[in-house]
Amino acid sequence: MTVVTSALRALLLLRLLLAGSGGGGAGVNFRFASYIGDHMVLQKEPVGAVVWGYGKIGGIVMVTLHQAQETIMKKITYVKEQSGTWIVVLDPMKPGGPYNMTAEQIIKKERYSQTIYDVLFGDVWLCSGQSNMEMSVSQIFNASEEEAKAFSYPFIRIFTVGLVKAKEELEDLTSIDLPWSLPSPENLGHGNFTYYSAVCWLFGRYLSDILKYPIGLVSSSWGGTPIEAWSSWRSLQACGISNKAKQFPFLSLYSGPTDHSILWNSMIHPLLNMTLKGVIWYQGENNAYYNNDLYNCTFPAFIEDWRQAFHYGSQGQTQRLFPFGFVQLSTTMSKDEDYAFPRIRWHQTADLGYVPNVKMPNTFMAVAMDLCDRDSPFGSIHPRDKQTVAYRLHLGARAIAYGEMLPFQGPLPEKIELLADKELLKIEYHQKIQVQKEDDKIYEISCCNDHQCKWIPAPMGNSSSQTLSLKVDSCHGTVTALRYAWSTWPCEYKQCPIYNPSSALPAPPFITVIPS
Ligand SMILES: *[C@@H]1O[C@H](CO)[C@@H](O)[C@H](O)[C@H]1NC(C)=O
Ligand SMILES: *[C@@H]1O[C@H](CO)[C@@H](O)[C@H](O)[C@H]1NC(C)=O
Ligand SMILES: *[C@@H]1O[C@H](CO)[C@@H](O)[C@H](O)[C@H]1NC(C)=O
Ligand SMILES: *[C@@H]1O[C@H](CO)[C@@H](O)[C@H](O)[C@H]1NC(C)=O
Ligand SMILES: *[C@@H]1O[C@H](CO)[C@@H](O)[C@H](O)[C@H]1NC(C)=O
Ligand SMILES: *[C@@H]1O[C@H](CO)[C@@H](O)[C@H](O)[C@H]1NC(C)=O
Repeated sequence: MTVVTSALRALLLLRLLLAGSGGGGAGVNFRFASYIGDHMVLQKEPVGAVVWGYGKIGGIVMVTLHQAQETIMKKITYVKEQSGTWIVVLDPMKPGGPYNMTAEQIIKKERYSQTIYDVLFGDVWLCSGQSNMEMSVSQIFNASEEEAKAFSYPFIRIFTVGLVKAKEELEDLTSIDLPWSLPSPENLGHGNFTYYSAVCWLFGRYLSDILKYPIGLVSSSWGGTPIEAWSSWRSLQACGISNKAKQFPFLSLYSGPTDHSILWNSMIHPLLNMTLKGVIWYQGENNAYYNNDLYNCTFPAFIEDWRQAFHYGSQGQTQRLFPFGFVQLSTTMSKDEDYAFPRIRWHQTADLGYVPNVKMPNTFMAVAMDLCDRDSPFGSIHPRDKQTVAYRLHLGARAIAYGEMLPFQGPLPEKIELLADKELLKIEYHQKIQVQKEDDKIYEISCCNDHQCKWIPAPMGNSSSQTLSLKVDSCHGTVTALRYAWSTWPCEYKQCPIYNPSSALPAPPFITVIPS
């Protein structure tokens, strides 16, 4: 029914336009959009994948999906007058394939067509952020074993957006580093900070093991970039940030574009018409010393804005509150002044310590503060254990995006109580705990007397299956607050004090007031 209606509209429009059009070279610019190509994965049911391209104004465009000799689907549209583009929403498709897809333009009895081959339907995830997302499989631990597994995953397809800056929002990508490809050791390990993103790949691989249908991974990341570079002016405005960047503090060798919206314009905006399942994000290091205390606004606003934009751009096909996963900052050896890293970790949760929460619905987080890597050849800010990061992220995706009932975050404090003698502070966690390591300094209390408060260590004491007591007898005053893992490098590799015993997920860092 909808096909007939739009075909009729297209025919009418065609007649109107033919009256005055010159023809000539109508086929030259007829093509799919830059990122629609061979081997791609299109988003599967229950939503429809959006497909678009360019044509000659006045052209009728027919998009067909075929398998062997059979036509599976046919959509008809026309080239829009203002933009010279056409767009169709495919019917929801079951996961699988391969299909071939042809777009054909008919103008004045002339036909031009383009076919793309080996198209699959599955879940499409966008991976974005800075260098820890960009780090390729060749840079991580066990790189060669990981690369060798590539051929076992022919139904995961990978794509990398090229590094481009733009002052205005672009409609299409102007550079592609890796067009849609089957994974191979060469393209998983192309080079340092190129492709393929290890976190993105491993996340997709873990999901593929569970879902057993095609996964499309689109990586669009640039090292050394603040969140403002990836944010539209709308979301910056929501946090009172102007569209001009302030002077950027010197951070590291790994610095990328920092102008506000400069990568949103070029590396995200062109993707808005793509139907997605969800997004994963690894960024925040570059906000440690840049608008740090605005991150509790910029990050939730950014998520909300991307959600609106992708929903709108895909004509409502990408879920309005699509699942959004992110990695909480890991560690760095470089001097951290002013608790910059712990503050970003906290702001990444909108200052609540866990996600999803009211400000960040349908999100999931991988805690990474226990995955430090002192000897990383890429600097300690680039830890090489990306397997655990991606594994923890995929648990969150399974819970939040796929509705599985499984634990995806570590123990959170549910009740904190100062015992009557004021010598012990009892923490009740929301799930079972395993004390991996005793630590006398990682819990700290704010101890106040005569209007002065000081953070002092609260050594760990006894524990039971869900509770831990802390010794607070060294405070000769009032205990007003408690914090956990509030430092850049809170523990050694997988040696934080508290984990969940079955999922091995670490307790996230927190800071909280103690009611008197
Ligand atoms: C796609 O087209 C190619 C080339 O014509 C053909 O070999 C292949 O079998 C087609 N694939 C499908 C799924 O129809
Ligand atoms: C990547 O970095 C490592 C460590 O610094 C270095 O040994 C290797 O040669 C680099 N690879 C490329 C392709 O530049
Ligand atoms: C963000 O954190 C800063 C510093 O703690 C605080 O002053 C501010 O009120 C917070 N903003 C929001 C929106 O939570
Ligand atoms: C992509 O979506 C945006 C927002 O809905 C729209 O303005 C733009 O025209 C779409 N692109 C095409 C090719 O239709
Ligand atoms: C690397 O491989 C070894 C041996 O199989 C394994 O014990 C280790 O956990 C792997 N490292 C990571 C980060 O996956
Ligand atoms: C730990 O438990 C033992 C035995 O129940 C008790 O004697 C001791 O006082 C407790 N210590 C702390 C710090 O809770």
